[in-house]
Amino acid sequence: MSKFPDSQRMEKIVSLCKRRGFIFQSSEIYGGLNGAWDYGPLGVELKRNLKNYWWRVIVHERDDIVGMDGSILMNRSVWKASGHEDTFTDPMVDCLVSGKRFRADQIDEQSGWVVNFVGATDFEAFQKLQQEQEAPERSRIWSEIELGPHLRRIFTNPSGTFDLNSRSGYVQLSDPVEQTKSLELLIKRGILGASSLQPFSAMEIGGDPKSFKWSSRGVNRAIRVAQDFYRKRGVRNPIVFAVGLEREEHSKRFNPENGSLLTEPRSFNLMFKTFVGATEDESSLTYLRPETAQAIFVQFKNILEVSRRKLPFGIAQIGKAFRNEINPRNFTFRSREFEQMELEYFCRAGEGMKLLDYWLEERLKFYENIGIAREKLHARNVPDEERAFYSKGTYDIEYDFPFGRQELEGVAYRTDYDLSQHQNASGKSLEYFDEETKQRFVPHVVEPSAGVDRTVLALICEAYSEDEAPDEKGKMETRLVLRFHPRMAPIKCGVFPLLRNNAQLVAKAKEIVGLLRPHMNIFYDESGAIGRRYRRQDEIGTPFGVTVDFETMGEKDAALRDTVTLRERDSMKQERVAINDLAGTLLAEIT
Ligand code: GAP
Repeated sequence: MSKFPDSQRMEKIVSLCKRRGFIFQSSEIYGGLNGAWDYGPLGVELKRNLKNYWWRVIVHERDDIVGMDGSILMNRSVWKASGHEDTFTDPMVDCLVSGKRFRADQIDEQSGWVVNFVGATDFEAFQKLQQEQEAPERSRIWSEIELGPHLRRIFTNPSGTFDLNSRSGYVQLSDPVEQTKSLELLIKRGILGASSLQPFSAMEIGGDPKSFKWSSRGVNRAIRVAQDFYRKRGVRNPIVFAVGLEREEHSKRFNPENGSLLTEPRSFNLMFKTFVGATEDESSLTYLRPETAQAIFVQFKNILEVSRRKLPFGIAQIGKAFRNEINPRNFTFRSREFEQMELEYFCRAGEGMKLLDYWLEERLKFYENIGIAREKLHARNVPDEERAFYSKGTYDIEYDFPFGRQELEGVAYRTDYDLSQHQNASGKSLEYFDEETKQRFVPHVVEPSAGVDRTVLALICEAYSEDEAPDEKGKMETRLVLRFHPRMAPIKCGVFPLLRNNAQLVAKAKEIVGLLRPHMNIFYDESGAIGRRYRRQDEIGTPFGVTVDFETMGEKDAALRDTVTLRERDSMKQERVAINDLAGTLLAEIT
């Protein structure tokens, strides 16, 4: 069984995606753009197969759901009414040393010794004053009567380490209150050179939990980080002043990468701003949509009228969404530009909770039908404190990615919140009229909201496998194979003439390509040994391979004329199939 989380597996997947043309970094030749990805020839096919299947299952195979395709740019009032302008935020913190930004709620907890500092001063000036202390009568500064007590407080037997090579060091202050006052005075008088009195703290990451050993040789990691902090604030060769040491358990205040203190959390709105028209001011401001759902709510009345549906009924949409994520990560998993497949299923208040469970089951079935193993899917019942205040129930459908268990889709009972908000803000009725009871009311809604890119990533992670297969000479070798469900596979069938220099075989193979191409995505390949050609298709997940050989031409056995070898990717089993039956056989597997 594979390790979990399994970073090696993920690295192999990312590399395969690039090598075989599934997913590339956006703007790669310019160094990329963080959080944006391009889908190559195979990636786009996989993505289309997923979206088409979702549309088929959600819209075409049902009487109670219709589709729509809304605009990405919408009136800013939509985002005010929906609450996104005020509350679509993540708490963000910055590392005070590297400047790296993190989502506060995603910081890994750290335990360790925390060293507190009151400031830093210049190594050269400090050393000079320390040397002058030996003959104070010859020093202009030491001779100043009123400075004497302050200088002695700092320079008499300082406990710490000074490193001549890096021209830096640390001093432990034994009487932080009085000594800090003295430092303040000396710094104000310009006696200590470039200095800073900004407080700072750093955690000694990975240190001994029992005790903190002030290192006499070199300096502790927390101290090095503090020196970097003060360097950034103008103290080129810092001696840092440590005032205290405390143990912190399960803290989220420090950068897990270097131990530096982080800023206090601040709200960061995730919507990308843009301007509509020629002026760039508040009056023309709007946002790239952060979810597709709002277009559905805003068009609810129009669609209700034209589709003449009765409750419960749904409106489905697939489209781009944009979020200025603080930390895009895990390949395409958390991107700044991505696609969603969203369904808003409108109902009466009393039906909401039942439909929530119904849609959870439907969605789990969907994932199984595209080849994701049930045991790798998990329905997390989101607890009250994590749920949006208006939601009466939410499930996260999670998948065991190689980097951990993460959300694929949210299924939420959002009550009548969205429609009520838009009704109140726009002043237009978004009520439903029930012909039977003659009542008017704002419908409630259950929303299964899935990510296209996350599901594509799950499909690739699920499909990735390595097994053993014989090479041309029968020797076993590692075979890399993407075991996509045939329904999702980017290319459904490879077609190969056994020999490229045999005109008859080539012509027959091309005839078969012409026969199959109207029904499915085909790849024709005549180069290299047949085993190599199979391997190339295995690696991109093509479920079937058709080989035209001499039997096809009836050369060995007349009964086999116009039959081909059909090879199945996973079992590598081969069977003879009549060319006339090929399309039907394959279509049964891929639809
Ligand atoms: N309308 C509800 C809504 O947008 P969400 O949980 O914020 O809910 C729904 O998003 C789905 O969209 C997620 O489950 C995920 O699959 C996808 N998604 C959200 N943010 C994403 C991101 N930054 N990158 C990729 N997919 C994302």
